[in-house]
Amino acid sequence: MKKIITMILAAIMVVACMAFASCTGSSTQEKVLNVYTNAGFAPYEYLDSNGKVVGVDIDVVNYIGEKLGYKVVINDIEFNAILNEVSKDKYAVGAAGMSKKAERDEEALASNVYATSVQYIIAPKGTFEGEKVTLADAVAYVAAANIKSIGVQKGTTGADLVAEGIDGTDAKAIEYSNAIIASNDIGTTVSAVVIDKMPAEAICKNKDTLQCWSLDAEMESYVMYFNKDNAELVAEVNKILDQMIKDGIIDQYTVKHSS
Ligand code: ARG
Repeated sequence: MKKIITMILAAIMVVACMAFASCTGSSTQEKVLNVYTNAGFAPYEYLDSNGKVVGVDIDVVNYIGEKLGYKVVINDIEFNAILNEVSKDKYAVGAAGMSKKAERDEEALASNVYATSVQYIIAPKGTFEGEKVTLADAVAYVAAANIKSIGVQKGTTGADLVAEGIDGTDAKAIEYSNAIIASNDIGTTVSAVVIDKMPAEAICKNKDTLQCWSLDAEMESYVMYFNKDNAELVAEVNKILDQMIKDGIIDQYTVKHSS
């Protein structure tokens, strides 16, 4: 009897040690946050002169990763593939100037809003008068031009807006993998490009043949999209995001990446 008890105790100790070892083992293992983004969308995410992905969203996720103890891994992929990646991995997040939208909310969990934007149109200098253009006027211009196409980034809210606007007109939309490539085609393949405000301004700033106008579209709210099974992480991130906004940190990052 005594022998059996001793053996059982020994077995318990072995199991406990193994469990402990594995516990300490996993606690020293780094937690990884897989960030999915799409560079070519300055100031939120773009490539620096070394080809490294940088930008407001990258600074924000790095800040969050540091606060929550995650190693942040940045993955630069096609914009329209981001939510699919997020849906496959509990510790994944889409950080790509993503506008909050009902269809996306079905696929992923939105964080709190950290920025707002509106759609802009990029066209050759002097194409439109004033600072704002209605979507109807923009479409009418393209429908009457020699090149009857508007460039958009595939899978974006800008692509949705243009699709609605051109419906029943002679204008067509051409989908690109990003707005920089699209705007390089202005004058050859497309007459204009529609993309969010700040990325549009960044493109216009770099090309003095182009000009940007605000469209009379609805205001959009940028959120980060998380895996549906990770409401705990979203709650933690929201606290940090709210504090960052309050402290002006996101504004600082925006200024830093817009200059
Ligand atoms: N805000 C727009 C959207 O959510 C465009 C985002 C494009 N982002 C990017 N990183 N390329 O559809």
